[in-house]
Amino acid sequence: MNCRISNKPLNLINDFGNQPLGNGFLDKQDFKNEYFYHMKTGFCKESKMFQLIDQPNMDKMFHENYAFFSSLSTNMKKHFYNWANEIMSDLNKKKEPFIVELGCNDGIFLEHFAENKINHLGIEPSVNVAKEAEKKNINVTTKFFKYDVANEIVNDFGHADYFISANVMCHIPNILEVARGIEKILKKDGLLIFEDPYLGDVLKRTTYDQIYDEHVFLFSAHSIKYLFEKVGMELVKLEPQDTHGGSMRYTLGKKGVHTIDHSVIEIIKKEIDEGVDNYDKMLEFSKNVEQNKIALVKILKDISNKNHKICGYAATSKSTTILNYCNIDENLIDCIFDTTKLKIGKFSPGKHIPIRDMKEFNHSQYKFAVLFAWNHATEIFQKEKKFSENNGKWINFSSGISII
Ligand code: TYD
Repeated sequence: MNCRISNKPLNLINDFGNQPLGNGFLDKQDFKNEYFYHMKTGFCKESKMFQLIDQPNMDKMFHENYAFFSSLSTNMKKHFYNWANEIMSDLNKKKEPFIVELGCNDGIFLEHFAENKINHLGIEPSVNVAKEAEKKNINVTTKFFKYDVANEIVNDFGHADYFISANVMCHIPNILEVARGIEKILKKDGLLIFEDPYLGDVLKRTTYDQIYDEHVFLFSAHSIKYLFEKVGMELVKLEPQDTHGGSMRYTLGKKGVHTIDHSVIEIIKKEIDEGVDNYDKMLEFSKNVEQNKIALVKILKDISNKNHKICGYAATSKSTTILNYCNIDENLIDCIFDTTKLKIGKFSPGKHIPIRDMKEFNHSQYKFAVLFAWNHATEIFQKEKKFSENNGKWINFSSGISII
């Protein structure tokens, strides 16, 4: 398999073995037909892109029963509200403002533009979440974004001032075509701003659960620079974010139009210093992943051997990688509590751990909970004070393994 950007051969990083779909929560009767694929990661020395070697078909992952709703986290709501306000203050100065969002999910970001009657378009192929966005009066198309869709949007709505995307670009295997489409849609001085989990943070914290079927890429400033130079665009600004355990917000414009912020030079240099552009660093990460697995399984077995029951907190897509790679099933983790209606009553992908309603978490007798949504730790610790007050312990595996 060659790099999706440079077409040069990929160098193997991790082999996670057979994995189910990260969001493939399922009923008992579907266990026997469950879909698995071989999950391996690779690094391209030319484009510096960290990527999955194989990825399931898009329509297996994004469909009318897509189980992820952005608005379930209050911190993410605040994050998108602040970002929308920043952009709106600039859009209000434009003649015919128009903003496009790729992967608008349930409208967590665009709802602010709809409320303020600003011309906008959301692109969301998962029909069930797109319906939630439509309920908020957001204009949505459910097409997969491709170059010809970019042409249709320009014909129907004109060129855009902003093309926004959050936690979506890293899902798109044909990203080069998408990048061409974005360049096509933008006005001459238009900006592409997107954010995704950042490779630098994944390497630093060994948060390998960011790797699952939907995340075909883990981006860095180096790889994004390489990719967008191919379509005549350049990095204008880089802003690290706390979301999803460490993300990067990339701002790009057409080449030569915008002043380049000093953050671009600084972060590119930092990546070189830290080896984010270097295959040896990826091999070091691979070793850290194996050690993290051994340590997590040992802790869970030690707790279990003392006859304590363990539950999981939040049935994230990320947890699918952890559970399947570490071979953790109901013998170690009894159940996982979650707030998502679509997941409750189902079973986790691959390891078939039952998913229970989060409302029962506080009445349950569990003294140990594995924090699968470690990226929302602040929000969760705040609302689950009672668990700690009752001597409950969190098992956190991001940045080394700790019991808090
Ligand atoms: P997220 O980390 O965004 O998941 P993913 O790995 O899938 O990107 O967390 C979303 C999931 O976590 C979703 O199933 C809802 C659940 N969740 C809770 O149950 N309670 C919470 O307080 C939070 C923040 C998330």
